[in-house]
Amino acid sequence: MGRPSGLVTTQEVQAARGMLDAARRVVVVTGAGMSAESGVPTFRGEDGLWKSHRPEELATPGAFQHDPQLVWEWYRWRRGLVAACEPNPGHRALSAFRRRHPETTVVTQNVDGLHQEADRLEEVGPSVSPVLELHGRLFGDRCQGCHRRTEAVRTPDPDLEAALPRCDECGDLLRPDVVWFGEGLPRSVLETAVDAARTADICLVVGTSARVQPAASLPLATTGAGGTIIEVNPSPTPLSRRARVTLRAPAGELLPVLLGP
Ligand code: OAD
Repeated sequence: MGRPSGLVTTQEVQAARGMLDAARRVVVVTGAGMSAESGVPTFRGEDGLWKSHRPEELATPGAFQHDPQLVWEWYRWRRGLVAACEPNPGHRALSAFRRRHPETTVVTQNVDGLHQEADRLEEVGPSVSPVLELHGRLFGDRCQGCHRRTEAVRTPDPDLEAALPRCDECGDLLRPDVVWFGEGLPRSVLETAVDAARTADICLVVGTSARVQPAASLPLATTGAGGTIIEVNPSPTPLSRRARVTLRAPAGELLPVLLGP
């Protein structure tokens, strides 16, 4: 077994592997750090998006009401950035793990679709439950009038970029199909996630600052039902003291070692 960089000992990784081997059900909760090594910026780190942008001006229903052009510019910029990114070895290792352990559930706060892309590359079949996207998806549009959902164009026509996109059915404004601050999460997705967290022996928490609810509370549903938390994050979080094992290393380096066969 190789040793990833960071403050992780081989013994800690072995202990976590033993716990995962013994588990009947695993839930994995991921955040922006999961995709950091793919080149997708996080939100709260030193170079995080919320250091240079104000969430209330870009990621709230009020912001969209006030200036849809500005909000669309920001989401188009993010789409372009993410479209150029690929799953990293951490995403790939997690998908391969789920192929071998189909009872594992992945719950992500990420909207980048990189877990799903890794599932495709690792040929994860239909017997594995789809990734639960708590905060929606970057490459989806939703009509603010009739709520119809459509796929976003991945490589948009620059001539059409300046115009605000409109619904083909009712003509109302389209918005990105993501969850903004102040909005509720998709109810059935959240219910399935809570259920998976409650019934899991292990909650593996990867790359989240655990500051945004209700995602941050999912691991506590696991511990509340007698399960344990394993955390993978180079930095401490409010969840660290609740974790049985904390592995301080980047996900792209650590997950292939932790989750490999
Ligand atoms: P944050 O940006 O708040 O936190 C990212 C976490 O990833 C931090 O704890 C980092 O230490 C950690 N990290 C950085 N690089 C890592 C790596 N290579 N491997 C593992 N961990 C790494 O992102 P989230 O917790 O996902 O919501 O943020 C939650 C929500 O807040 C997002 O979904 C978004 C944001 O505002 C909305 O926009 C609604």
